[in-house]
Amino acid sequence: TKDWNGIDQVLLRNPHGASAKISLHGGQVVSWRNAQGEELLFTSNKATFKHPKSMRGGIQICYPQFGDCGLLDQHGFARNKIWVIDENPPPFNSKESLGKSFVDLLLKPSEEDLKQWPYSFELRLRVSLALDGDLTLISRVRNINGKPFRFLFAYHTYLAVSDISEVRVEGLETLDYLDNLSKRKLLTEQGDALTFESEMDRTYLRSPKVVAVLDHERKRTYVIRKEGLPDTVVWNPWEKKSKTMADFGDDEYKSMICVDGAAIERPITLKPGKEWTGKLVLTAGKSSFCFDQ
Ligand code: BG6
Repeated sequence: TKDWNGIDQVLLRNPHGASAKISLHGGQVVSWRNAQGEELLFTSNKATFKHPKSMRGGIQICYPQFGDCGLLDQHGFARNKIWVIDENPPPFNSKESLGKSFVDLLLKPSEEDLKQWPYSFELRLRVSLALDGDLTLISRVRNINGKPFRFLFAYHTYLAVSDISEVRVEGLETLDYLDNLSKRKLLTEQGDALTFESEMDRTYLRSPKVVAVLDHERKRTYVIRKEGLPDTVVWNPWEKKSKTMADFGDDEYKSMICVDGAAIERPITLKPGKEWTGKLVLTAGKSSFCFDQ
């Protein structure tokens, strides 16, 4: 299929009816549905689909910068670029995609990108949909440059929830975090689980491999598993900030939460010829989630 700009999108399906749609614009996952056809990712009703701007929602690839701490545009350029389908990706280490439906995408820097960020790389993304509906994203960055470079990375993931006031995030208790609302001040999480009653924009440091987002109203639990990504960003713009975002509805903060597997605090350093891998697995289930299991 194609999006409004005529840019290709790839549709993955599993035999039970689950699906995922990936756009070559940004290598962005723009839809992920369970076997019942319910959309699991948030997309703003006001999202603009105008290249090169990234679409507000889904899963955005933030690379090689996260946020505005750097010389590049917010969250780096990968989410604004047109990727290509990678017909012949280098082999994966494990039996990663057995029984899954998947697509491989590739981003290489253009001349223009190299002027902004003078490091040659190949960024590969495999998105796969499993028989049980799990969605896996594996990103691999290869340094094909003569010198080392450093980068940040995040899977900026907009999860759809029914009411943010009823949402709990588990797995980040007692962790240190950088509070992006107060100049990245280092604070420590205290409570049992994270709940939401105002704007939140935090980078939890050295977070566990598994974080759960519980949507009580819908009785849905998202489980986010990550590898190679030490940090977790949690973001909800709440009421005031929502009104300042042109591509986001005033009330939409109620129906989304961003929980991003990321590498932010310590940039990844990649030597020439070396490759880095960052993996995210998303599960959406009806059952309640228990960390002791
Ligand atoms: C979050 C950041 O990940 O993304 C926030 O922590 C930011 O600070 C948000 O506002 C949205 O960014 P953007 O560039 O997509 O509007």
